Amino acid sequence: MENNNRRLTIALSKGRLQDETLALFARAGIIVDPAELNSRKLLVNSNAGHYSIVFVKPPDVPTYVEYGVADAGVCGRDVLLESEADVHEPLDLKIGHCQIAVAGKGEVVGDDYNLLATVRVATKYPRIATTYFHAKGVPIEVVALSGSVELAPLLGLSDRIVDLVETGRTLKENGLEVIDVISESTARLIVNRASFHLKRVEVSALIAKLSRVI
Ligand code: PRP
Repeated sequence: MENNNRRLTIALSKGRLQDETLALFARAGIIVDPAELNSRKLLVNSNAGHYSIVFVKPPDVPTYVEYGVADAGVCGRDVLLESEADVHEPLDLKIGHCQIAVAGKGEVVGDDYNLLATVRVATKYPRIATTYFHAKGVPIEVVALSGSVELAPLLGLSDRIVDLVETGRTLKENGLEVIDVISESTARLIVNRASFHLKRVEVSALIAKLSRVI
């Protein structure tokens, strides 16, 4: 019988990273039954119970891992920068490449922020946005949104956005442009600090399996 204490629980990001992550895991020999994937189950077994996989919203992955309810997780660097969770980050999985960028209607102020007293910035990343603009000495008012951030400058809700840019299509089709790239982002394997030591054998095996197929 499988010893649950040796089983690894892995939190995966739903949404844009999910398919690429599952494809990478499959190449590494960690197979999730397609029938389970197509169900509404949020917790599925893989590899005869060696792994429990949970699917959660991307910003929740570091939370699950930091609290130790998941031993490991996969999320974008963007999410990690925003969360500042205290977790190990042993592997860049080199999938889900995108940029965290400042964007807007270029003609409004360009990057001469002296033209505005306080810059209104709409974003799903309040911490990243605040850190970026404060480092430039630019006062900002953050408008926290949870999606379709590109609408904000179009409707006059904000002067700028800080958001992910992958293909650039959403910006282009809404008449917006990148003004500055804050950081590149790829998906990372993260590991709970206690699990890293207490389940060293299992965690090392997971890292080794994934390393071979990156
Ligand atoms: C992300 C991001 C941009 C878009 C960028 O949103 O926030 O809106 O994708 O991708 P592109 O450069 O390839 O066009 P997501 O699809 O995650 O949905 P959301 O706007 O609801 O957050």
